[in-house]
Amino acid sequence: MASVPSLASTVQQRLADGLTAALPEAASADPLLRRSDRADFQANGILALAKQLKGNPRELATRVVAAIPENDVLKDIEVSGPGFLNITVTDAAIVRTLAARAADARLGVPFNESAGTTVIDYAQPNVAKEMHVGHLRSAVIGAAMVEILEFTGESVVRRHHIGDWGTQFGMLIQYLIEHPHELDHKAEDGAEISGEEAMSNLNRLYKASRALFDSDEEFKTRARARVVDLQAGDEETLALWQRFVDESKIYFYSVFDKLDMDIRDADVVGESGYNDMLVETCRILEESGVAVRSEGALCVFFDDVKGPDGNPTPLIVQKSDGGFGYAATDLSAIRDRVRNLKATTLLYVVDARQSLHFKMVFETARRAGWLNDDVKAVQLAFGTVLGKDGKPFKTREGETVRLVDLLDEAVDRATSVVREKAEKVGLTESEIVENGQYVGIGAVKYADLSTSAARDYKFDLDQMVSLNGDTSVYLQYAYARIRSIFGKAGDRTPLAHPELELAPAERALGLHLDQFGEVIAETAAEYAPHKLAAYLYQLASLYTTFYDQCPVIKPEPAREVAENRLFLCELTARTLHQGMALLGIRTPERL
Ligand code: ARG
Repeated sequence: MASVPSLASTVQQRLADGLTAALPEAASADPLLRRSDRADFQANGILALAKQLKGNPRELATRVVAAIPENDVLKDIEVSGPGFLNITVTDAAIVRTLAARAADARLGVPFNESAGTTVIDYAQPNVAKEMHVGHLRSAVIGAAMVEILEFTGESVVRRHHIGDWGTQFGMLIQYLIEHPHELDHKAEDGAEISGEEAMSNLNRLYKASRALFDSDEEFKTRARARVVDLQAGDEETLALWQRFVDESKIYFYSVFDKLDMDIRDADVVGESGYNDMLVETCRILEESGVAVRSEGALCVFFDDVKGPDGNPTPLIVQKSDGGFGYAATDLSAIRDRVRNLKATTLLYVVDARQSLHFKMVFETARRAGWLNDDVKAVQLAFGTVLGKDGKPFKTREGETVRLVDLLDEAVDRATSVVREKAEKVGLTESEIVENGQYVGIGAVKYADLSTSAARDYKFDLDQMVSLNGDTSVYLQYAYARIRSIFGKAGDRTPLAHPELELAPAERALGLHLDQFGEVIAETAAEYAPHKLAAYLYQLASLYTTFYDQCPVIKPEPAREVAENRLFLCELTARTLHQGMALLGIRTPERL
């Protein structure tokens, strides 16, 4: 595993050396290098530097260029405009760098030198409730961040903070006590029930108990007493509560499975997992003065959080009746994650509508000293999923759309898309079915990941499975097309030839391939999977241009040219495959 310096970093280094040699007083200046359309790279740093040194930028730039020794990476540096540097690298440097990437299983991507431990809170549905599109976003974005961070060398601990606690369980449990066989599984002993069945059992129970709760005062009283039993840890009550959790998990896992997502039981630590810490959390907050009693409740106040009436809106850590809510659990979870899991970063992949909650929770934790310069907390807040009409996603009847139905529909549509082309590629029926799943689920994930998370996005299946445009199917086809070339290449095999002159499309593809590591680093540092998605889409586009302009098989080019092009094809395929895998999307070999 050898990390390979990118051409950008090599060029940057050469320029920095040139700067230091020509202008020792500017030794630490940043040349501000970026990719450019005019040349391969452009550096703008000398403009700011000239201002600072009160010099003529063009003249300074010329001196810097003169101070860079002859070398085999930089082909041409031209001073242009008011004092930019337009830089072209040699074809040989491109091919050599890519060959070094190809020789490494990680494509030369370096590990983050300051990696730490990140606890990611994602994929957190609620017990006894249907999962919705918001839960989908958290799961998809969170899973991608897990993979991306781990790829950079970060230690990642996953936490699925499911909603498995709260007053609604009093009602559910009491109902089950009074209707004891409602959750019995008809299936023979040992046989597993489907997620669908589990959810429909829970739905039925939820509706029935709710109806009773709303219509029968005596049941209501019994249900409330049951909440107290639950919180007091009464064994029978807890055992029934556990049945609801288990039944829900059957359902959750079936959805995660559909999503082709690996969620491990040990990582599911719901709200209930912090019960034992709640009292102590409150005590610490109260004793340290971070929280104060107000009208019986334990509250934390903030100067900048006020309600519409201008009065401060506190974070309520303990209600006046002694009950603990969402905030107490989250604060306790922070203590656990910092102290026991040794987190250096806490990342929360949660709906933007909970931003105020997290702002207050994080600030409270900072005041308590649980978060500090060594441990930070970040909410990766995502926007709302909208329907085609731009309104929050609902069925025609105005109900929330069931996630499972959406996923099934995505797979159905994708399967028809795959089927249309299947004959030409010679796919078997089982390949069609499998690819339909990969394409359908990939489409849903990609749509979610390819826009910046903070933005609301439209859930539009037609667009998602379209073969043209910025979709996962487009990327998956690009990958499969590359793979199919190798079957037609006869005795020609991929081999880098740095001695060859490159065509413009080869250079453009090569320079983009070389940026993979930088994009990964940026994606990880900014928690921005859409940057990786955008990179991959551009990679596929550049590949398409390359493929149109630079024949690989027919008309048959000279052997070395064919080998070098196959080499570019192979590295493109590997980069696409790796990038898509980090996003949680499969790339079938044949499509
Ligand atoms: N279960 C919550 C919901 O469905 C999300 C939990 C987010 N994580 C947390 N630590 N509060 O909205």
